Amino acid sequence: MAGKVMHAVQYSTYGGGAAALKHVEVPVPTPKKDEVLLKLEAAAINPVDWKIQKGVMRPFIPPKFPYIPVSDVAGEVIEVGSAVKDFNNGDKVVASLGFTNGGGLAEYAVASSSLTVHRHAEVPAADAAGLLIAAITALQALKLGGAQFSGTGNPLNVLITAASGGVGHYAVQLAKVANLHVTATCGSRNIEFVKSLGADEVLDYKTPDGAALKSPSGKKYDAVVHCTVGISWSTFEPNLSESGKVVDITPSASTFLNFAVKKLTWAKKKIEPLFAKVNKEDLQYLVGLVKEGKLKTVVDSRYPLEKAEDAWAKSMDGHATGKIIVEI
Ligand SMILES: NC(=O)c1ccc[n+]([C@@H]2O[C@H](COP(=O)([O-])OP(=O)(O)OC[C@H]3O[C@@H](n4cnc5c(N)ncnc54)[C@H](OP(=O)(O)O)[C@@H]3O)[C@@H](O)[C@H]2O)c1
Repeated sequence: MAGKVMHAVQYSTYGGGAAALKHVEVPVPTPKKDEVLLKLEAAAINPVDWKIQKGVMRPFIPPKFPYIPVSDVAGEVIEVGSAVKDFNNGDKVVASLGFTNGGGLAEYAVASSSLTVHRHAEVPAADAAGLLIAAITALQALKLGGAQFSGTGNPLNVLITAASGGVGHYAVQLAKVANLHVTATCGSRNIEFVKSLGADEVLDYKTPDGAALKSPSGKKYDAVVHCTVGISWSTFEPNLSESGKVVDITPSASTFLNFAVKKLTWAKKKIEPLFAKVNKEDLQYLVGLVKEGKLKTVVDSRYPLEKAEDAWAKSMDGHATGKIIVEI
């Protein structure tokens, strides 16, 4: 592919939202010795993508402008680096491009072979791309909350906030894979949807009981996978079991402070921030669950690459039900 150009979507400065995304023709990237070149089929947008554009990882990410955003992709291997042993041309895969490199809103991208996983024929590109940051975060948050996926764990009671979103909708399904009792929060329009994912009890977050996180059956939570913002410790605390833990994937300064205080005072009820780390083992496990029909990606909406800015705006709006996918 050396010397060929491709269509891509990039931005050249911090801020500006969807309107700052520009359609360009750029050279097709060349894989290094441990990388694969992918012809992309789908890319999944995550809130972190537009948060990076806003500058939350400034000055490290993006390392330079212009920057082609988005890390979560699925596609077909069309070239392999000289040191790559596990992949061949024609393999269908799912890959994390990482935030530093980005590159997902394009026709082609290079991925490290260490963050690339084979995708079975039964797993469509959009479903696979959706898994990466979102499902891996859900999995790691549940594990940090005490869930075990070996079939030997205790039947914990978990609360999942924002269960209709990208992370939350995987967290509900994965909690059921781990045999947990799930209480979930979402807006009224998504109550039946969240129940269909397996939630045992669902709270409308705009009602008084929902805002207070009270389980309808009076259960206390052993773990909370907290996927939204604006809920204080004083709301969580009375709803936790004796040694209940809140895993906060949207941590604020008060989360870190609270985490430190609870640790220093050996408190039984805790809150802990989580920054998920994409790794091959978790990704392989999740792709396997999709293949077995135990986990599904619910697609909120699909956009062609030509309309990537609409997908971006939809994610920034904060009301997705499941994943937002750009199809390439
Ligand atoms: N720490 C990490 O490693 C990590 C990893 C992934 C994501 N995150 C962060 O986690 C957050 C969630 O990510 P996501 O991909 O799931 O976002 P998302 O898909 O954009 O979430 C949107 C959903 O959240 C629901 N929601 C919003 N506020 C709510 C509330 N107060 N109570 C209940 N539901 C609410 C919305 O429902 P309505 O439309 O009905 O309002 C919508 O369905 C983001 O801030 C993201 O940056 C962190």
